[in-house]
Amino acid sequence: MSKISVGIINVTGYVGAELARILMRHPNVEINSVTGRSAVGQKLGDVFPHLAALDRTIEEKLKDVDVAFSALPHQASAEAVVSVLKRGIRVIDTSADFRLRNPADYPRWYEHDHPSPDLLAEAVYGLPELHRAQIARANLIANPGCYPTCSILALAPAVQEGIVEGHIVVDSKSGVSGAGRTLSLNSHFCEANENVSAYALRGHRHLPEILQELNGVSRDGPVSLTFLPHLIPMSRGMMSSCYAQLKRGKITADGKGELALRTLYRDFYKEAPFVRVVDNPPQTKQTWGSNICLIYPTIDQRTGTLMVVSCLDNLVKGAAGQAVQNLNLAMGLPETAGLDMAPVYP
Ligand SMILES: NC(=O)c1ccc[n+]([C@@H]2O[C@H](COP(=O)([O-])OP(=O)(O)OC[C@H]3O[C@@H](n4cnc5c(N)ncnc54)[C@H](OP(=O)(O)O)[C@@H]3O)[C@@H](O)[C@H]2O)c1
Repeated sequence: MSKISVGIINVTGYVGAELARILMRHPNVEINSVTGRSAVGQKLGDVFPHLAALDRTIEEKLKDVDVAFSALPHQASAEAVVSVLKRGIRVIDTSADFRLRNPADYPRWYEHDHPSPDLLAEAVYGLPELHRAQIARANLIANPGCYPTCSILALAPAVQEGIVEGHIVVDSKSGVSGAGRTLSLNSHFCEANENVSAYALRGHRHLPEILQELNGVSRDGPVSLTFLPHLIPMSRGMMSSCYAQLKRGKITADGKGELALRTLYRDFYKEAPFVRVVDNPPQTKQTWGSNICLIYPTIDQRTGTLMVVSCLDNLVKGAAGQAVQNLNLAMGLPETAGLDMAPVYP
C-alpha cells in the first residue's frame, strides 16, 4: 500500500513540531510538506534538531498532499483551512476554529465572526471516543482542545449514564506548553516557575466546547458546569479533577458503588485503545509523550460525590497524537498506527 502523503501547516509551533515527531515514525505516512512563517527556506532539522532525521525544508505554501494538519492559532487557521479544503485536501485542524457548531459562539468566545459558518455543520468534532464513525467519513476534522479532551473523557460516561445530578465542577491544571510557543509574560520562566495560578475565572474558551460535547451525550437535559483552569510549572501534562453529586438510586456511595462505577467506565471505554480506566489516582508523568488518557473514577463516600481524576499529555492526546488518531480513522488505518509510544519515565 502506498503511503499517505501529509503536510503540516505551521510546523514551527509546539503542536506542529509534535505532529512532525509523531508522523515521522508513522508506518503508513510520508510527510511531504511543512510550512512555518518564521522559518521559510530553513531545514527543519536546523530549526528543531530533534526532527533532523526528517529531511525537509520549511516552505511558505503547502504542497498538494492527501491530508493536511493545521497547527495554526485560531482565526489564522480558519483562513488556511478554507483554502486547503478548496484544493480538495482533507484537513485535520488542531485549532478551535471548527470545533463549535453554533456560529454565535465565535464572536462570544473568540471575539470574531466565523469566516465560514457553513463549514461548521460539516466539520466533525474529532474526539474518537465519542465520534469514531463520523470521523471516518469526515473531510474536515476539528481536533478537540486539550482541556476539553481531558475533561470530556473524564465525565462523558457519568453524564451519558445519568449517574450524576446538579452542578458539575471541573478543576484543571496545564503545563506551560499548553499556552503555545509564542512568547508571553505568563509563560516567562520567572513568572511560571515555582508558581500555580488560576486564570479565566469569568469563563475559559474551552467551556463551550466541553458543554457542547457533554450536552450531546446527556439524557437529562443541558449540563451545568464550572470550569476552572490553572497553569502549573511543568512543560507538558494536564490533569482534570471533576466533581458532581451522585444521583440517588443509581450508584451507591460505598465500596460496592465504587466497583460498579469502575465497571461502568471500563464498559464505556472498552473499544477505546487510548483511554485507560485505572484503579489508583493517575499522575501526569504517567502519560508524558504518549497518546494515553488515564481516568480514575471514584466516590467521596462521606458526601456521595463522584470524583474523577484524568491525566494526559496536552501535546499528544491533547493535540498532535489525537490528530494522528483522527488521521488513522479517516484513512481506514488501525486507530493505533504510529501511536504506540510508551510514556517517558521518570
Ligand atoms: N499547545 C497545546 O497544548 C495545544 C493543545 C491543543 C490545541 N492547541 C491548538 O493548536 C494550535 C497550535 O498550538 P501551539 O501550541 O502549537 O501554538 P504555538 O506554539 O503558539 O504556535 C504558534 C505559532 O504560530 C505562528 N503564528 C502565530 N500567529 C500566526 C498567524 N497569524 N499566521 C501564521 N502563523 C502564525 C507562529 O509561528 P512562527 O514563529 O513561525 O511565526 C507561532 O510560533 C492552536 O490553535 C492551539 O490553540 C494547542
